[in-house]
Amino acid sequence: MLPNVLEVARNLIRERVEEGDVVVDATMGNGNDTLFLAQLVGERGKVIAFDIQLQALENTRSRLQRENVLDRVELQLASHEEMGKITDPVSAVMFNLGYLPGGNKEITTQANSTQKAITAGLGTLRPGGIMTIVVYWGHSAGIMEKETVEAFCEELPQSNYLVLKYQYVNQRNQAPFLIAIEKR
Ligand SMILES: C[S@@+](CC[C@H](N)C(=O)[O-])C[C@H]1O[C@@H](n2cnc3c(N)ncnc32)[C@H](O)[C@@H]1O
Repeated sequence: MLPNVLEVARNLIRERVEEGDVVVDATMGNGNDTLFLAQLVGERGKVIAFDIQLQALENTRSRLQRENVLDRVELQLASHEEMGKITDPVSAVMFNLGYLPGGNKEITTQANSTQKAITAGLGTLRPGGIMTIVVYWGHSAGIMEKETVEAFCEELPQSNYLVLKYQYVNQRNQAPFLIAIEKR
């Protein structure tokens, strides 16, 4: 079967990230992607993960503790725009937009801060690094966020970035899609 958007995002990241790298999870949620990244970078690497909800941070912390990889993860209770402060060159940034699964569906990523965070993330990426953005847009702020992200990414200069969109075009109910940006 063809892979879903999250599988494609992970495959693209797996192909580029090496042990010892510094990577970012821009939307930690319940920690699934944080765990994936922590296993990928190994004990010499570092994952910096952001979320604005304490519940997300606590869920992620317990998940990482259970899997014995908490030592290589920095959990930040902060908005992802703060990733502009990271000084290490980063090889991958993952976004998974929307609301916390199992949490309050009214607390979602938002067009304005998401665009600022993408800009900040592109600044921290090393050449050859990759950003993946999985856009779930079936929530109240989703349409505006989707349009903002698409418009922003379409305008990125081709000389500096390769931008890919991966989407099933015959699915009902605002099917999620992936935008992947490779920095040249
Ligand atoms: C779809 S969930 C992420 C799922 C996560 N990747 C996982 O593996 O479980 C989106 C998350 O983004 C968080 N979020 C919303 N606004 C944010 C912001 N400005 N900065 C960082 N995280 C934010 C939400 O609290 C929510 O937990």
